[in-house]
Amino acid sequence: VAADGTRSFDLTAQADTTQFTPGVDTETWGYDQGFLGPTLVMDRGEHVQMNVTNTLAEATTVHWHGMRLPARMDGGPHQLLAPDASWHPDWTIDQPASTLWYHPHVSGQTEHQVEMGLAGMIILHDDAERALDLPSTYGVDDIPVMVQDRRFDENGQMVTDVRGFIGPLGDQMLVNGTVDPFLDVTTDVVRLRLLNASASRVYNFAFNDERSFDLIGTDGGLLRSPAPMTGIRLSPGERAEVLVRMVPGETVTLRSTPPDLGLKPTVSEQNAGADTLDVLELRAAGTLTAEAVTPSSLVPMQKLSASDASQKRSFVLNGYNINNKLMDMGRIDETVEANSTEVWTVENTMPMPHNFHVHAVQFQVLRVGSAPPPPELAGWKDTIYLEPGVRYELIMQFGPYTDPNSPYMYHCHLLAHEDAGMMGQFVVV
Ligand code: C2O
Ligand code: CU
Ligand code: CU
Repeated sequence: VAADGTRSFDLTAQADTTQFTPGVDTETWGYDQGFLGPTLVMDRGEHVQMNVTNTLAEATTVHWHGMRLPARMDGGPHQLLAPDASWHPDWTIDQPASTLWYHPHVSGQTEHQVEMGLAGMIILHDDAERALDLPSTYGVDDIPVMVQDRRFDENGQMVTDVRGFIGPLGDQMLVNGTVDPFLDVTTDVVRLRLLNASASRVYNFAFNDERSFDLIGTDGGLLRSPAPMTGIRLSPGERAEVLVRMVPGETVTLRSTPPDLGLKPTVSEQNAGADTLDVLELRAAGTLTAEAVTPSSLVPMQKLSASDASQKRSFVLNGYNINNKLMDMGRIDETVEANSTEVWTVENTMPMPHNFHVHAVQFQVLRVGSAPPPPELAGWKDTIYLEPGVRYELIMQFGPYTDPNSPYMYHCHLLAHEDAGMMGQFVVV
């Protein structure tokens, strides 16, 4: 932290090797390390200065997924970083405590670069969150759980052959880059920050004994109140913060049970909709430190109202297109007014899995079909899964940063789809 309060982060994208299995060197990429990148912890109100260097043999970008920031700092496909180049975006954190992440966003190469290992978590704190006394000791009772699936060939190298419409799927689960992960739990409540950082796979996170847990936060921040549930579906890019209660001496496994993809059983199965996978073993110590009682209400969340919306737009995901268009870096698809509120309706009209992510904003879900959103979609979101044939109505307020020349993106976050051009661009003016 500099004298003026600016907090600096240095990230170097590099090629390396990692031993997922002892004695087997797998070629990987990472930021400052062999695989993945460090968790970046930031505070609301803080000015951050990122110093990104690319030592890879190919161009990359670093996108700050979920962040409200000027478009030139967003790290989308226009902020390309050539080999040996550096990039120094800076901005002021102006959004609630939440779990965000960072990853490359290079046209046609995002899936490959993320699969090689370029991804990291960002944790934002604020005063409202601190006042709640939630578990917040990083690595002790506040745990990053970045979930990815990979496939390794007989030489231990990662392969990304495409299976199903959904994109590449792995049969080996990794949590924070670790095979067969476990966590030694020392407190009676543990906060897991679940991040689906996989290229394609949709998870339904649950526990092997079907215990209930409290959902306390989604993509863009904490909920109004904890929502008890026994499973939560997360598609690529989505996050959830959950509180799990533990009993001394027990072992419980976080797993993924078959997610409801909204597809016919045979199609669902081809897209990993029938898979059950163990994700992370939680091993409780013989005695556990007691955490503060979970508050029954968390943060007041200002509800955005459709009557404040000055514009409606609709987005139809049809095959690998959005509104019958493929991504064109030279075309601006939508022009949005700074500080305005808009309603976007989004629908996947093909019987295949897609999701939808919008840069630079956190949105609220007004309606899922004709129903109000369930608890897991009632908080701040920037990415949602789209079952075929279900219209999602999203409301969002755009930020103050104007730039007619630098677009933000909206896209399907299944990385093979994004790379195939399932993306559009908007500017805020
Ligand atoms: Cu996580 Cu446009 O991306
Ligand atoms: Cu993003
Ligand atoms: Cu898609």
